[in-house]
Amino acid sequence: MKIVNVVGTRPNFVKIAPLIREMKKYTKFEPLLVHTGQHYDDDMSESIFKDLQLPEPDVYLGVGSGTHAEQTAKIMTEFEKVCFTEKPDLVVVVGDVNSTIAAALVAAKQNIPIAHIEAGLRSFDRTMPEEINRLLTDRISDFLFTTCEDANINLRNEGIPQSKVFFVGNVMIDTLLDHIHLAGRSDITDKLGLKENGNLKRYAVVTLHRPSNVDAPAVLTGILDALGNLARTIPVIFPVHPRTTRQIEAFGLKDRMFYVDDLPHSHPDTPARNILAVPPLGYLDFLSLLSGAAIVLTDSGGLQEETTILQIPCLTLRNNTERPVTLREGTNILVGNKPEKIVKTAAGVLKNADPRKKSPKYWDGSAAKRIVDILLKKL
Ligand code: UD1
Repeated sequence: MKIVNVVGTRPNFVKIAPLIREMKKYTKFEPLLVHTGQHYDDDMSESIFKDLQLPEPDVYLGVGSGTHAEQTAKIMTEFEKVCFTEKPDLVVVVGDVNSTIAAALVAAKQNIPIAHIEAGLRSFDRTMPEEINRLLTDRISDFLFTTCEDANINLRNEGIPQSKVFFVGNVMIDTLLDHIHLAGRSDITDKLGLKENGNLKRYAVVTLHRPSNVDAPAVLTGILDALGNLARTIPVIFPVHPRTTRQIEAFGLKDRMFYVDDLPHSHPDTPARNILAVPPLGYLDFLSLLSGAAIVLTDSGGLQEETTILQIPCLTLRNNTERPVTLREGTNILVGNKPEKIVKTAAGVLKNADPRKKSPKYWDGSAAKRIVDILLKKL
């Protein structure tokens, strides 16, 4: 069974790693890894591959950036050639990025069965490109592997036959649990001056990249105002996504933060009362930074899940989430992107942290095994 696994962006790499490892245990499977090149900077791609011990991609499409249509079209054109040559028995796509829908569409037209990992999530907000990608990918997939009961309900409501839906849990959490000990060896908190007399200080971690937060100058300025306010109480560490860096520069907002451009040379007496901007971090450094944080502020999907398992309060700077289970059973709070609300909620959380102890069902480190067991039976 030749299985072509398609990845393109940083969160895809995190999700595919445990699956490739699990597939490799069975001689029945020949897993191939195709990297579309949607994320291409070393610190968005190569360093994550290394940390996760992912094999070199068998095929690299090198599509890079572009408008949504350009990027999706380029991936489709290049991936179609891969499918013609490799004739896979199954194409596996993960998450909700442009690489996901592009590869799924190509496979569907060649009548190749498709497995979608992380199916069924819905924000019910079609202004998000990811929502379009999720809806369409689920529509044409043959195996829909879900992370939570909400996803099962969404798929049922959309009329997807239940025989295609498999509730298996969360592969991103498989990776987290696999790597948490290794992350303990990272010295990132030392490098960033976050220790005092050998003890961790309280600090916040921020990530931002959604168009709704970083593409409008007024919105991004408001969020940086709120972060600046928070940074008067605790250090705020902000690993900046390349798209956000581009916008911060374009809007003339660079002077809002202190930049550590070259981590190895950063100095431990980094000014604490400031937003500290660092380049995107590797998986292990980021996991280490995350697991010591007092609070996380983000618009990422994966971070809502990771903070839930790490029991760290997470303020999601969006008005909706496709992961409501993290609100009910996790540590996630939706705050939107208005500065006053962000500042007020963060202050409340820091005063009264109330980590909840429950983990969503099947977020237990065995999701990839469940998926591969199902594929072994069904293929
Ligand atoms: C993509 C996904 C988003 C996911 C995010 C994770 C889509 C529609 N969006 O958003 O769902 O949460 O990845 O990070 O697929 N860039 C670089 N170097 C890189 C990658 C990107 O400089 O390695 C810059 C480019 O200017 C590019 C911009 O970032 O135009 C946006 O990249 P793109 O992959 O289109 O979307 P993301 O914002 O990363």
